[in-house]
Amino acid sequence: MRRPVILIIDSDESERVSLDAVLRDLYETVLVNEAHEALEAIKTGSVDLVLIDMDHQVVNGIEALELIKKADSDIGVVMLSSTGSAEQAVSALKKGAYDYITKPFNGGDLVSAIKRFTDTLNLRSEVRYLKEELSTRTNGEMLSVSPRMRRVFEVIGMVSSTPTNVLITGESGTGKELVARAIHSFGERKGKPFVAFNCGAVPSELMESELFGHERGAFTGAHARKIGKFEYADGGTVFLDEVSTLPMHLQIKLLRVLQEKSFERVGANVPIKVDIRVIAASNVDLEKEVRKGAFRDDLYYRLKVVPIELPPLRERQEDIALLARHFLDKHSKKCGKRVIGISEGAIKALIGYKWPGNVRELENLMERLVVLSRDGVEIGIDDLPSGIFEAVPDETMEERDFKEALRMFERRYIIGVLTRTNWNRGEAARIMKIHRNTLFMKMKELKIREPRG
Ligand SMILES: Nc1ncnc2c1ncn2[C@@H]1O[C@H](COP(=O)(O)OP(=O)(O)OP(=O)(O)O)[C@@H](O)[C@H]1O
Ligand SMILES: [Mg+2]
Repeated sequence: MRRPVILIIDSDESERVSLDAVLRDLYETVLVNEAHEALEAIKTGSVDLVLIDMDHQVVNGIEALELIKKADSDIGVVMLSSTGSAEQAVSALKKGAYDYITKPFNGGDLVSAIKRFTDTLNLRSEVRYLKEELSTRTNGEMLSVSPRMRRVFEVIGMVSSTPTNVLITGESGTGKELVARAIHSFGERKGKPFVAFNCGAVPSELMESELFGHERGAFTGAHARKIGKFEYADGGTVFLDEVSTLPMHLQIKLLRVLQEKSFERVGANVPIKVDIRVIAASNVDLEKEVRKGAFRDDLYYRLKVVPIELPPLRERQEDIALLARHFLDKHSKKCGKRVIGISEGAIKALIGYKWPGNVRELENLMERLVVLSRDGVEIGIDDLPSGIFEAVPDETMEERDFKEALRMFERRYIIGVLTRTNWNRGEAARIMKIHRNTLFMKMKELKIREPRG
């Protein structure tokens, strides 16, 4: 069980140190001088309770309380004061303080007040977890009828009950994060945190302290102790997305976490033991990175104890119709529209398309079509963006009636000329020997839009 993190705000150094002495054996303590400094630590989401010494505050104690509660209303705040004024106590409790303790007090009083609050923490994280699970159940469902994905589901089932590290590879948008969450939530760690960290999205100077935490004063700007992702995830799972972008010196530190289950915060020399499972993901070929010398091979082998490779959507075409209908359904409900259908012809076009952005691209397109469609009207082939329309296999032409085949031909012809002229409508009209306005009208009628980006 993770030790609760207590943040002490006291501008009097000797008071701060003596409070720390009472608490440090039982809790992780973070010491700061004043409330604004505390906000930095609170933003990391790892502080459970704040102690405010009202006698020694840079700003007024009640103001400090308000500041903390505004930053995170779930945090417990215990006020310490020597005035013992009932008015002050009532006002603190009204403003959301969990308790108010009058000085002098003995260590036992303080610890039991803190304990009463931390006992509710397990309960609260349970509630938070259930809420999260509810939301992932409704929008994090994985669907597939493809045999290759069925194999992936089997592996998820087998690996979820073990502490083994997993490496998930696959193009962008193939469902890597969804798989990682599934592994976590089917296993015994499900009540514990799932901490996702995208190595590609964090500047490398900040990455080390984000992952491993830092001590107060470890570097300029380190005002307070910070608990890193690995420490916060203790007992649970760390999901390292885009792991190929992890800088060398952190690859070494990660390797140690995997081998010894321990690490140090930046600026500290006491090792911290953790029990975590690491699931890494990459959309580039890590083996190639290893050959280039950009990724450590020992780390690579540690991470890929169980490898899961997600096939791109174009290699599991049998999933396209299923997923398209599922996303139409999901987004129709979300937009409060009657469930919008999709024509067989349109489905055929979707199946013929290459989907470079995989499932995410399909979902985004379905959402856009729902938003732009009229209530209850079926989505037809004309509603699809030109890039996908182009993908309609030619043989479907023969399955259409004369009018529809003509529309398809006109559409393909016009898009072809426009693409050739770089969407210069004047030039395209000249080539087609029709008036510009006729071209505009045709484009409108056939729902031809210039592809963006
Ligand atoms: N099999 C599936 N069934 C239903 N939804 C899916 C499936 N696979 C992916 N999705 C959805 O597609 C979107 C992209 O999935 P996810 O974020 O897991 O992909 P990713 O591989 O992590 O992408 P990236 O490499 O871009 O981070 C999500 O909204 C996810 O819910
Ligand atoms: Mg992802």
